[in-house]
Amino acid sequence: MTVSLEQLRRCHFAVDLGAARTRVYVKGAGLVVDQPSVAAVNNRSGALIAVGDLAEQMTGRTPGYIRVVRPISGGTVVDIEMAQRMLRHLLGEKTRRALRRKPRLRAAACTPHAADPLATRATIETLVGLGARRVVLVDTLIAAAVGCGLPVERPEATMIMVCGAAATQVAVLSLGSIVTAERIPVGGEAVDRAIVQHLRHAHQLMLPSQSVRPLQVALSASGLAQHGPASAEIHGRDVVTGLPRTVRVDTAAVRVAIQTPLTAVLDGIGKVLRDCPPDLVADLADRGMVMVGGSALLPGFDQMLRQATGMPVHIAERPDVCAAEGLGAMLEGRVEPLLLNPLAA
Ligand SMILES: Nc1ncnc2c1ncn2[C@@H]1O[C@H](COP(=O)(O)OP(=O)(O)OP(=O)(O)O)[C@@H](O)[C@H]1O
Ligand SMILES: [Mg+2]
Repeated sequence: MTVSLEQLRRCHFAVDLGAARTRVYVKGAGLVVDQPSVAAVNNRSGALIAVGDLAEQMTGRTPGYIRVVRPISGGTVVDIEMAQRMLRHLLGEKTRRALRRKPRLRAAACTPHAADPLATRATIETLVGLGARRVVLVDTLIAAAVGCGLPVERPEATMIMVCGAAATQVAVLSLGSIVTAERIPVGGEAVDRAIVQHLRHAHQLMLPSQSVRPLQVALSASGLAQHGPASAEIHGRDVVTGLPRTVRVDTAAVRVAIQTPLTAVLDGIGKVLRDCPPDLVADLADRGMVMVGGSALLPGFDQMLRQATGMPVHIAERPDVCAAEGLGAMLEGRVEPLLLNPLAA
């Protein structure tokens, strides 16, 4: 492993700060937080009104004096102070007190592949503000691969694709390290934006920010897949008159709109495979790749990748929490270190 398993085993908690969701794994307690990375603030007093699910429900529905903020954007903590306040509330008094009792609190966090130094610094500072004396960083790709049970430490290729909200990361791993990897700045958010734009252009309908998911759910029988209902009913606001309106949306057209951002992901996969040594690519032909991350659940996404690459594509059992669970497994010492001892002469 490129990360020190020994150091990770000494950590007390692990954090996955995602653009869409924040997840916290506490050693011995498991995954204690899995909530949207959202906070609602009172503009007048600066007080925090809500965090997580409740704050997300408030998005777009607030009076002037309440502001809904996302302290993590594009996979980076953009507002360190707000991220700390949000995390404190998400953790709750009981967990915080338990963590405060540790003499030298150590935290682990996953960072996007090839994150720039400022982004990693922001993650570290966020956790230091929560009381951590030491922060160990793990590449999300490795954490996710461990979390979905891939045999990362063996001398054989495994391919993982982390489909997050802000970005999609693809990598080929072998011997516990990344052989080749790409980070494509297209994720679930780009897909949502494509749907919103399509409805605006094709139906002059403004979709409330919260309705993209229900639309995907409405399409879920078909999604990107070819079969399923031919149309779905969507409520929104007319762009011209501003009045509420309901339209029947052709699912085939939505499918095309979604596919546009996803072609960038296909390019990224192609690049990773081209950069990868042939022996490893041969391993992948029958093993295929594993999709993790919330956007892996996008209906029909796996089917589309299967067709485009000709490789087997699997979705992890609980794709959204794989990275946090992987960090957890390393904290609990459930991952066997690879012993690369020099051979005795
Ligand atoms: N059932 C679903 N169908 C389609 N998309 C989904 C589904 N569930 C979650 N998503 C999408 O997955 C994304 C969230 O995934 P995830 O929780 O992995 O993101 P994140 O870790 O917060 O983001 P990042 O890793 O990019 O910082 C959101 O964009 C959401 O729209
Ligand atoms: Mg993530």
